[in-house]
Amino acid sequence: MFVDMRLVAFALILQFNLIAAELLGTTFRRGSGISELNTCRVGVAELTFDYKMLGKSSYSKYWDAPCGYPPSTGSFLLCSYVISGNDSSIQPKLFKLFTERCNDYSSYDYPISYYEEQFKNATQNYVPLSQLNASLPIYSATLPNMKLLQKSYMDASTWFAVAVCGYFLLLIIISAVYNFSRRYGFTKRMNGSKVSKLFQKYLIFPTLLPNGKFSQTYGYSFFTMLFPNRIQFVTDLFLFGLQVAFYCAPYKYTIKGYWVVYVGYRSGIMSLGKIPLLVLFAGRNNFLLWITGWSYSTFLHFHKVVAAWMFIDALIHSVAYTIDYVGYYVSSLHYTYFACGVAATVLAGVLCLHSLHFFRRGFYEYFLAIHVVLAICFIAMVWHHCNVLGWMEWLVAACCVWFFDRLVRVIRMFAFGYQTSTITVVGDQLMKVEVPKPDWWSHAPGTYGFIYFAGIIFWENHPFTVVVENGKICAYIRVKMGVTSRIWNKLVKNNNRMNWRICIEGPYGGALAPMLKKYDDALFLAGGSGAPGILESATKATNGKLVWVAQNISFVTAYQTLITNISIPIDIYITRETSANRTFLKKEFLSDSEPDSQSTDGSDKEIGYKETENDVSQIHVRYCRPDISQIIDAEVRASAAKNVGIIACGPPVMMDNIRHVITDHVTDWNKSIDFFDEFQIW
Ligand SMILES: Cc1cc2nc3c(=O)[nH]c(=O)nc-3n(C[C@H](O)[C@H](O)[C@H](O)COP(=O)(O)OP(=O)(O)OC[C@H]3O[C@@H](n4cnc5c(N)ncnc54)[C@H](O)[C@@H]3O)c2cc1C
Ligand SMILES: NC(=O)c1ccc[n+]([C@@H]2O[C@H](COP(=O)([O-])OP(=O)(O)OC[C@H]3O[C@@H](n4cnc5c(N)ncnc54)[C@H](OP(=O)(O)O)[C@@H]3O)[C@@H](O)[C@H]2O)c1
Repeated sequence: MFVDMRLVAFALILQFNLIAAELLGTTFRRGSGISELNTCRVGVAELTFDYKMLGKSSYSKYWDAPCGYPPSTGSFLLCSYVISGNDSSIQPKLFKLFTERCNDYSSYDYPISYYEEQFKNATQNYVPLSQLNASLPIYSATLPNMKLLQKSYMDASTWFAVAVCGYFLLLIIISAVYNFSRRYGFTKRMNGSKVSKLFQKYLIFPTLLPNGKFSQTYGYSFFTMLFPNRIQFVTDLFLFGLQVAFYCAPYKYTIKGYWVVYVGYRSGIMSLGKIPLLVLFAGRNNFLLWITGWSYSTFLHFHKVVAAWMFIDALIHSVAYTIDYVGYYVSSLHYTYFACGVAATVLAGVLCLHSLHFFRRGFYEYFLAIHVVLAICFIAMVWHHCNVLGWMEWLVAACCVWFFDRLVRVIRMFAFGYQTSTITVVGDQLMKVEVPKPDWWSHAPGTYGFIYFAGIIFWENHPFTVVVENGKICAYIRVKMGVTSRIWNKLVKNNNRMNWRICIEGPYGGALAPMLKKYDDALFLAGGSGAPGILESATKATNGKLVWVAQNISFVTAYQTLITNISIPIDIYITRETSANRTFLKKEFLSDSEPDSQSTDGSDKEIGYKETENDVSQIHVRYCRPDISQIIDAEVRASAAKNVGIIACGPPVMMDNIRHVITDHVTDWNKSIDFFDEFQIW
C-alpha cells in the first residue's frame, strides 16, 4: 500500500534534498545583497567623514552617514558592488535593500532613484584610499581596504553551521556502515575480534559511568534526569569541542569595537544552522532512523543536545547584540525583527527549561502539547527576525522537515483510520488491545505504534509495542497513571471487556529482530510488560533461550498465543509469588493457568508427560528473583555456537543490569556477541 515504506522514503528523501539545497543556498548566499551590505557596513564604518548625524533615528549612529552623506553613501554602494565581484545583476537588489534600510534605520527617507544617482556619482568621482590621507576626513567616495573586507565577506560562520551538520553526517555515515554490517551479518564475524570487543566494552555497550544508569534516571524525587550512554556521550563531547573551536576560531577583520558584532553574527548563524537538525531529529518519520539503526530515543537524545547548543548560540548572539546596541536597546525593540529576535531567544530558553526530565516524566502529554506550541511560536519569531536579516533558508528547511513528518504521520493515521478494537483484561493491571491488521501493515518483531484512543484528548497518543496474532494487531498494555489508567477503569466497569475505537499511527521500529536472526544462537531477555516484542522475536527463533521475569504467573499466561508459537526453551522467573519451581510441557503450561497447585518441594519438578531431556517445548517456572548476571554469563558460556545475539526489553533497572553484565563479560567470552536493546525511554 502507498502509505508504506516507499511513501515514507519518498517524503524523507525530499526532506534530505531540501535540506541539502537550502544549505547550499545559504552557503553561497553571497549575491543576495544582504551579505554585501553587512560586510560593507563594517568596512565603511572604518572611514572618517566630516559629517554630523541628524539623529532622528535610534540607529542614526550607524546609518545616518551612509544614507545621507554622499561620500559615505557612494563609498558604501561602491563597496557593495565591488565586493560582489562587480556583479551588475545584484544591483537592483542592492539599491532596493539599501533604500529600505535607510528608510527604516536612518534619519533620511530618500527614494531608490537618489541612491542610484549616488552610485553613479561615486563611480565617476571615486578616489582610491591610497591617494587619501587616512587620518583626515574623507570628502569623496572611496573604497575601504577591500582585501581585508573580502576575508570578512567570506566569513566562515555559515560554514561553521554547515560543519555541525557535517559532523552529524559523518556520524550518520559511520552508523550506516555499522548498521548495514549488522543487518547483513558482517558484524557477527567482526565482533569476535579483540579490537571489536574492546570497542564494545569501553565504548558501545557501557553506561556513561561504570555500573551507572542509562535506562534508569539519575536524581532524587522530582529532580530526575536521563544520562546518555558512553557512545552518545563521546559524540556529545566531540560536538562540545567543535562548538568551542568554532566560537574561538579567529574573527577576520575585527575592527576595534566591532568584535562583538562578529561574535553575534557567527553565533547567530550557528544557531540558525541547528534548527533543521533538531526538527529532523525529533521527527518520527526521520529516514535516518532506518539508515543509522539508531533508536528513536537516540535521536531524541541528539534532538535535546542540538537544541541546547542552539540555545547557547542564540544566547551568545543575543548578549553580543545587546552589547552592540547599548543605548539603543529599548528603542530597537520597536523594530519587529529585533523584538522577534529577543522573543525567539527567550522562547528557546523556555523550551529547554520546560523539557527537563521531571516535567516529561510527570506530565508527558502536557509537556508535548506545550512543547509543540512553543516550538511553533519560536519558529515564527525566528522567521520574523530573519526575513529582514536573511538566512531564511535554514528556517525553510526546518519547516519543510517538520511539515513532511506531520504529513507522513497524518497519512499513516488516515490509512489506519479509527477502527473498533477489542480490549480485554488479561492479567493483573494488564490489558490486551486487538484490532484487525490492515494488509499494508509491514510488521517485524519489535514494531511499535502510537495508539490514539477515541474519546480521549484527540492529540494524545502513546507508544506501544505491537505483535501480530491470528491476523490481528495486538498490544499488551501495562496500566500506568495516565491514559492507560483511564482506559483500565472503563474496562473494569465494563466487566473486563469492551470495544473501543482506536487509531494506530505506525508501524515504527522493528529493525533489531531481523539483525538478531543473523546470529547462530540467541538469548531473549524479557521483563514484565517489555515482553511482547521479545516473545514475538522468540517465535521466529529455532535456537536459543527465552528468559522471562514477571511479577506473577497470571502476567505470563496472558501472553498465551505468543508462547504457543515459541519453540525454544523458556525459563520463567516469578518474583512476587511463592511456590515450588516447576517444569512444564508447553501444552500443559498453557492449559493450566494455575501451575503451582501440586509442587511444594522447591526443586525443579517435572510433571506430566515429559518427552526428552532436551525437549524444546519445555517451560521452567522458578519462583525467585533471578541473578541476571549469572544467567547471561552461564548461557553465553554454555552456548555451542561461535556467536550469540542478546536481545532484551524490560524494566529500566533490569536493562541497566543487563548492559553492565554484557559490558563486564564481553572480553571474557570467547565468542562473537552483540546486544540489541529494545527498550526505549524519552
Ligand atoms: C517504544 C515503546 C514501546 C512501548 N511498549 C509498551 C508495551 O508494549 N506495553 C506497555 O505497557 N508499555 C509500553 N511502553 C510504555 C508506554 O508507552 C507507557 O507506559 C505509556 O505511554 C504510559 O501512558 P500513561 O498515560 O498511562 O502514563 P503516565 O502514568 O502518565 O506515565 C508513565 C510513564 O510513561 C511515560 N510516557 C507517558 N506518555 C508517553 C508518551 N506518549 N511517550 C513516551 N513516554 C510516555 C512518562 O514519561 C512516564 O515515565 C512503551 C514505550 C515505548 C517508548
Ligand atoms: N520498546 C520499549 O521501549 C518498551 C516496550 C514495552 C514495555 N516497555 C517498558 O518496559 C517496562 C517494563 O516494566 P514493567 O513495569 O512491566 O516491569 P516490572 O513488572 O516492574 O518488572 C518485571 C519483572 O522484572 C523483575 N526485575 C526488575 N529488575 C530486575 C533485575 N535487575 N534483575 C532481575 N529481575 C528484575 C521484577 O522483579 P521485582 O518484582 O522484584 O521488581 C519483575 O518481576 C515498562 O516501563 C514499560 O513501559 C518498553
